[in-house]
Amino acid sequence: MLEKDIEKILVTNEEIVAISKRLGKQITEDYRDKNPVIIGLLKGCLPFMAELIKHIDIYCQIELMGVQSYHGGTESSGNVKITKDLDVSIENRHVLIAEDIVDTGKTINVVKNLLKYRGALSVEVVTLLDKPSGRTEDFTPKYIGTTIPKEFVVGFGLDYDEFYRNLPYIGVLKPEVYNN
Ligand code: PRP
Repeated sequence: MLEKDIEKILVTNEEIVAISKRLGKQITEDYRDKNPVIIGLLKGCLPFMAELIKHIDIYCQIELMGVQSYHGGTESSGNVKITKDLDVSIENRHVLIAEDIVDTGKTINVVKNLLKYRGALSVEVVTLLDKPSGRTEDFTPKYIGTTIPKEFVVGFGLDYDEFYRNLPYIGVLKPEVYNN
């Protein structure tokens, strides 16, 4: 049903699984004995975080934080709002933030600074998608799944007006979907 709204697929489900395996292996090596807290930024992080953690083989904890910046459109609003805060302290902990996409970099900069202020030992970012063409902040994620061009994408957690998050791949919407 949703597929009829998709113009093209940019990253297939098979590619996302392969990406998650590669990143999970690297994170496993880098965080051995560090007992990190992996913090997913809701809601977009959910499918990618669920896939990624299957491939991380170390003692780690999973937490979630609600953060919003798009508010329904296709462009980042620039206002980053915390809609659900952490339930745990991250003082003296190694933190790995899990994201679906880094676009302008505003969301990640706000969260990174907040977690550092709260006393995290280290704060790194793993993102399924990196869109460097959208960047307005000086930021490069440590772990990048794949780099995408300047296009608005949906699926695998990413939404347009809260829909399409449940697509099993990353795709580009047909232009008429925005114009309706
Ligand atoms: C999206 C995405 C990132 C952020 C990236 O979240 O999940 O968190 O925007 O954009 P930026 O680099 O320009 O800040 P959104 O605010 O749409 O909330 P969602 O995860 O609930 O979809």
